[in-house]
Amino acid sequence: MLRDDFMWGGALAAHQFEGGLHGTSKGLSVADVMTSGAADRPRRITEGVLEGEYYPNHEGVDFYHHYKEDIALFAQMGFRSFRTSIAWSRIFPNGDEEVPNEEGLDFYDRVFDELLKYGIEPVVTLSHFEMPYHLAKEYGGFTNRKTIDCFLRFAEACFCRYRGKVTYWLTFNEINNQMNYKADIFGWVSAGAHYLRYEDPELAMYQSVHYQLVASALAVKLGHEIDPNYKIGNMIAMTPLYPLNCKPDNQLLTIKRMHEKWLFCDVQCRGHYPAYAEKLFAHKGFHLDITPEDRQALAAGTVDYIGFSYYMSNTVDIDAAEQEGAMLSSVKNPYVPTTDWGWTIDAKGLRYALNLLYERYEKPLFIVENGLGAEDVKEPDGSCHDFYRIEYLKAHIQQMKTAVEEDGVDVMGYTPWGCLDCVSFTTGEMKKRYGFIYVDRDDDGNGTMERSRKDSFYWYQQVIASNGENL
Ligand code: BG6
Repeated sequence: MLRDDFMWGGALAAHQFEGGLHGTSKGLSVADVMTSGAADRPRRITEGVLEGEYYPNHEGVDFYHHYKEDIALFAQMGFRSFRTSIAWSRIFPNGDEEVPNEEGLDFYDRVFDELLKYGIEPVVTLSHFEMPYHLAKEYGGFTNRKTIDCFLRFAEACFCRYRGKVTYWLTFNEINNQMNYKADIFGWVSAGAHYLRYEDPELAMYQSVHYQLVASALAVKLGHEIDPNYKIGNMIAMTPLYPLNCKPDNQLLTIKRMHEKWLFCDVQCRGHYPAYAEKLFAHKGFHLDITPEDRQALAAGTVDYIGFSYYMSNTVDIDAAEQEGAMLSSVKNPYVPTTDWGWTIDAKGLRYALNLLYERYEKPLFIVENGLGAEDVKEPDGSCHDFYRIEYLKAHIQQMKTAVEEDGVDVMGYTPWGCLDCVSFTTGEMKKRYGFIYVDRDDDGNGTMERSRKDSFYWYQQVIASNGENL
């Protein structure tokens, strides 16, 4: 059985669903200069907002004006929690101001009040791919130590203002994505940096990651000082890796590649760099700016729980790794199918991930993202028969329950991604939908923004009502 207070809900991020850029005092964020793309056409990052380009995040799905209606729908599903983020550039439009922006703060007061009215616990990510654009442009984002202070001012403003309304926080969303520094989008959204423009992109990435880890730790400490009841977690993209076969080199490669995720979680949970990271820096000749004060900060700011996203597993192979360009050495896993966007569908991988995380850290785990991106069809009568999504989520919840009931893993909650259709992060599309609630909006920004319930809405309602017994 799951805990009685299991935090069922859904998850979104400000830049993907909020909109509310035009006509408000919100500043541009790094996501606001990203064009739309597709599975085979990467989003472009432009120098500012350019005439004639389409930027899907500017309007998102206009939660800014629909929040009451949307939260009422979440309440109808029986949500006990709702994970969202605070758009940093709504609170500090440029990021380096001294004083927060009242209009922005007031918006989240209204959102949190509305959630609490229905007994829905807000779970808030401080930074979910939406750093103020100005910080990226002027300072190189987190490649610059100065950005730590800007982030802390933002964190402090949020921790002070929403005390008594928010208890659960997360620092940086999927902080480990940027390990793939060769794909510009990850460094851009996580750090506000184009790592490839640096002489040594890998070095720039590790330095920036260090500043983010310090910022995260200092925020955890600060949050606990402001309110000792605060529960503050980290957030990693947990894509467990399988070796392609039992070739010893593949086992070792799997360990090595997993370090790309563990590095973040190890520091955030244990408060210091693991031995393999120190060795890696030494071998590469990276002399990072890591001060003794930084090390103290890391030790003093370990997280209360681990938040993570789980969408898929990957399989690695040493032969692929040795081929030039095989960045992640991923190969096809013959045992699992993939989505239309090429992500594996592997529910057992979730149980595997839960076990790996719990055995390593023994901290409560919160699955703050999981879901199936698919092209849905809305019928003329407004219905949407997304049986494939129900099948996907059902299988994952079953595996989560097995991890709790048989393996003894402590899982606090489950908030599937994109509970309301929103703009896809990687592609900027609307047609890659995850929601229980359909939003009438297309890839070119056309549509009425009307909301309607999919079949999964009613299914999830019964899942929550039965605390996961009735799948
Ligand atoms: C995670 C992010 O990477 O996956 C979300 O935290 C994102 O922001 C989600 O939307 C799904 O990815 P996508 O590209 O399908 O929207």
